[in-house]
Amino acid sequence: MKWPEHGGQPATMKQLFQLDKEKTILDFSANLNPLGPPEWLKKELNGQYESLTRYPDPSYSRSIASLAYHERVGEGEVLLTNGGAEAIFLAAKYFEGKKALILQPTFVEYARACKHYHIETEDIGLLPQDGFALPFDLVMEKLHEKDVLFLCRPNNPTGTVVPEKQIRALLDEGLKTNTYVVVDEAFVDFVPDLSLSALVASYPNLLLLRSLTKMYTIPGIRLGYMMGNNRLINILKAEQIPWSINAYADAIVPKLLEDKRFVDRTKLWLQEQSQKVRSSIASMGFYVSPSRANFYLLQDSQHPQQTDELFRYLFHHGVLARHTHNFKGLDGNFLRLAIRSEEENGYLVSALQKWRIVT
Ligand SMILES: Cc1ncc(COP(=O)(O)O)c(C=O)c1O
Repeated sequence: MKWPEHGGQPATMKQLFQLDKEKTILDFSANLNPLGPPEWLKKELNGQYESLTRYPDPSYSRSIASLAYHERVGEGEVLLTNGGAEAIFLAAKYFEGKKALILQPTFVEYARACKHYHIETEDIGLLPQDGFALPFDLVMEKLHEKDVLFLCRPNNPTGTVVPEKQIRALLDEGLKTNTYVVVDEAFVDFVPDLSLSALVASYPNLLLLRSLTKMYTIPGIRLGYMMGNNRLINILKAEQIPWSINAYADAIVPKLLEDKRFVDRTKLWLQEQSQKVRSSIASMGFYVSPSRANFYLLQDSQHPQQTDELFRYLFHHGVLARHTHNFKGLDGNFLRLAIRSEEENGYLVSALQKWRIVT
């Protein structure tokens, strides 16, 4: 079977598994904030209709100013991008033809972007038996042979977080051999005090990638940004396609960043629901990854070989999980599940209880 490369595609999955098009499905396969988008956004976008008739400001100066203010970095240290995806490909472009280290399992687009830009990659495995923790000594050892290390923090799909102390040590080591560390912080907004943006000023070899997609539930508008040393950002800006970010997206950045109540509410929801759903599931004999993000990996510890069957069972019971067939090192042996509303999480728990009874 050809599994789709990304989550969030219930219609495609229904076709693939020959489920009725009308069947109600709860989508746990995309890691979007269930509280979003913020209520005011619809009106705001409707009010922006006239933006359609003008080119966006090519320097996106209002958005850049608000991002710099919000992140406490210089305006020259920020680049607005067409989603986190463009940020990944721009970062890879900078290392065209060079050598990269990738920690696996992780988001598949780093490897795709590296392939696209003829970057030779070496994978280092994060192992389930080690709680998917960074094999720090091995990475330090390999770092000097490489031009760049790609890592995701919190990591998709494990939800695990490399400690800041280790990141600093990698950056210090990287400075000796001009090796960069690219940290994808697409999910960082969900976790209090986790961002590395304060390190941008001290480390010219650090590049941070961000996405506004997940927190604000706006995958359709395509908004992201990157932060790094001024020289690096200027080089990347010169590579970017002109008007890469549309006028609607540009118009909403300042308002999104000002809505701190929405972000705080989200963090509170996550703290409560993450704890609740993960402990309910673990208590039924399932492995749950030590995630700090709004998703986690799951495996039936009693039937670790039956992950595809579990996927199918859940789907037929109205729950769409994210398969892990295209995550290196997971090879389909885990499912990734988003943390959703209390009601939806409860529905998932009851579906897993039923599975436990039948297996
Ligand atoms: C880790 C990570 N980075 C980046 C992205 C891409 O984000 P965007 O939708 O903003 O392009 C995703 C999307 O799933 C992701 O999981």
